[in-house]
Amino acid sequence: MIVLGIETSCDETSAGIVDTSGNVLANVVASQVDIHARYGGIVPEIASRQHVIDIRSVVTSSLQQADKDWNDLDAIAVTHGPGLAGSLIIGLNMAKGLSAATGVPLVGVNHLEGHIFAAWATLKDRPVDSGENDRELLDGVLAEGKSVMCLLVSGGHTELVLLHPNRRFELIGGTRDDAAGEAFDKVARVLGLRYPGGPEIQRVATMVTSEPEPLSRAWMKGTYDFSFSGIKTAVLNRARREGIYPPAEQPASPDVVANLARAFQDSVVDVLVTKTLAAAAEFGCGAIVVAGGVAANGPLREAFHSLSPVPVVIPPISLCTDNGAMIAMAGAMRFSEGARDGWGLDVEPGLRIGSVAVTT
Ligand code: KG4
Ligand code: ZN
Repeated sequence: MIVLGIETSCDETSAGIVDTSGNVLANVVASQVDIHARYGGIVPEIASRQHVIDIRSVVTSSLQQADKDWNDLDAIAVTHGPGLAGSLIIGLNMAKGLSAATGVPLVGVNHLEGHIFAAWATLKDRPVDSGENDRELLDGVLAEGKSVMCLLVSGGHTELVLLHPNRRFELIGGTRDDAAGEAFDKVARVLGLRYPGGPEIQRVATMVTSEPEPLSRAWMKGTYDFSFSGIKTAVLNRARREGIYPPAEQPASPDVVANLARAFQDSVVDVLVTKTLAAAAEFGCGAIVVAGGVAANGPLREAFHSLSPVPVVIPPISLCTDNGAMIAMAGAMRFSEGARDGWGLDVEPGLRIGSVAVTT
């Protein structure tokens, strides 16, 4: 089985191709990051126009990269939500047009499921050192009748989702305010760092010269929910106190910026890891998946791997941030379970995870 996946929910135009075993045969991403960085965040109107410009060559390049033809495809998967309506519709219409022209079946994919199922995909040049790849490990856990605890952390979402052995998702907690990635982006702005903030905060946090004064943790005790607005405000207050916000004519002290970035990152990583491990223990999970753009964060990855008593699968970084291969992967799973969509498939900007159950 060969599946093409198309992703245009936010600011990356992407197309990827996977085979039956989850091997990534192609993953082409046209990033708009530099275009939006000028404005300090995503401008939806510009995003959709750029998708129109890039989509055709991105899809064509993915077929070339995989050395496949239209006739080789078994399904065309496309993100239909959640995301920006004006962006989603570009990928959806492309997928519908291709499906109509080629007769290849269409499968709508929930972007959030795409992030999680990226953990089942294997990059061609990735060494399989354990003798067992991530996909076999995760399928083995589900086959044993155990669930997988999934932490989804991206620019728009922070969710704890239980993946049951029947491959149905159950939402058990989420953010009450900002998503983790959104907090990284907003804090970066306060610290005078460029967009997107996550990689910038990770970079400057390595430059600390002394142990940073810790920031508080929002534990949201008794729930699996998260809150990141308090820590964002704490950073803002400390930045004001240290005289680096609002920006003055004098450039901010790199030491102060590095210390605040590190204290913020420590706080977010601590809360995400501690709560996910507790949830995995409570639900008797056999493995943990960490997915979404924030899962690219080095200290978060290290903390999960060193602290978890059960195996943790975190996709390689190129499959954590938005990409077409993860949509192809999720599409392949749902297609093999019988999912098909028709001309009536529409964009669903507010689509939630758990609302479209993966059928058994
Ligand atoms: O999943 P994604 O590519 O797009 C959405 O679906 O939202 O996630 C983007 C988010 C941004 O907020 C970005 O700052 C964050 O992921 N991010 C990171 C890192 N790389 C990307 N956050 C922390 N550390 C990183 N290394
Ligand atoms: Zn995403």
